[in-house]
Amino acid sequence: MFSSSLGKKYLMALTGLVLVGFVFVHMAGNLQVLAGQAQINAYAHSLQSLPWFILWGSRLFLLAAVLIHAWTAYSLIVENRKARPHSNDIEVTKRAGLASLRMGLTGSIILAFIVFHLLHFTIRTIYPEYAEMKTMVGSPDETEIHDAFLMVISGFKQEAVSIFYVVAMALLCAHLAHGFSSVFQSLGIRSESWRSKLDLMGIGYAWLIFIGFSIVPVSVLVQKHGVYETYDPSFFSQEIEQESLSQNPLNNES
Ligand code: HEM
Repeated sequence: MFSSSLGKKYLMALTGLVLVGFVFVHMAGNLQVLAGQAQINAYAHSLQSLPWFILWGSRLFLLAAVLIHAWTAYSLIVENRKARPHSNDIEVTKRAGLASLRMGLTGSIILAFIVFHLLHFTIRTIYPEYAEMKTMVGSPDETEIHDAFLMVISGFKQEAVSIFYVVAMALLCAHLAHGFSSVFQSLGIRSESWRSKLDLMGIGYAWLIFIGFSIVPVSVLVQKHGVYETYDPSFFSQEIEQESLSQNPLNNES
């Protein structure tokens, strides 16, 4: 079934829906950075402490959704191109072709962003010192846990990193604005009368995701440059920047 174009369309729409849901949950989780170190650390720790089969099951499920989404999209673009050798003659197919090209381009950049992001904050190979950031703040039982807050603040204090994230979020926003409504079309449940409503909902959702994700890097830079204080100012002192982060003097009460 899934070798047919219709099957691929369904698969692309369903995996797209999974990813639409994931970005919302991840964004909402990230916003806890605004509530401070204890809140986000406790949250990150609770996720890391999930039973291994739930943690790895959801990671694999998400990875499969990303790969299937990218593969079906690529394969449908190739099929459409083959089916429309003289597509330039017709205005409608030309526009559809441009839209899918734009989705392919933003999608590929988002895929590259995800690889960078995992190496940055999850696998932590880009800045290995992030893995050494430990604290008891947010810990449920007086043991040291990973200091996700310090990692995020340190990461976004670098202008280039923050700008890169915000640009990637803008591309994600462009991708979602079109993709949201397309899901319903692909599943065959978007009537003409609902089309403009779903398009508007897609744009609203995309903006929500853009603002929700960008608020964290932007607020860190804004505080770094002395415009507005959101976080504990001690995380912005020179001392912290230069300190060997494996020994974070702020957080190790012992
Ligand atoms: C400003 C935007 C973002 C911030 C601040 C952020 C923050 C984080 C942090 C701190 C982690 C590591 C959690 C931990 O291990 O303690 C993480 C993991 C992750 N992020 Fe993001 N993220 C952002 C945007 C995104 C976007 C747009 C996507 C996908 C489209 C994404 C996908 C992921 C995935 C797949 C993981 C791995 C989850 C796991 O450990 O299984 N993130 N993010």
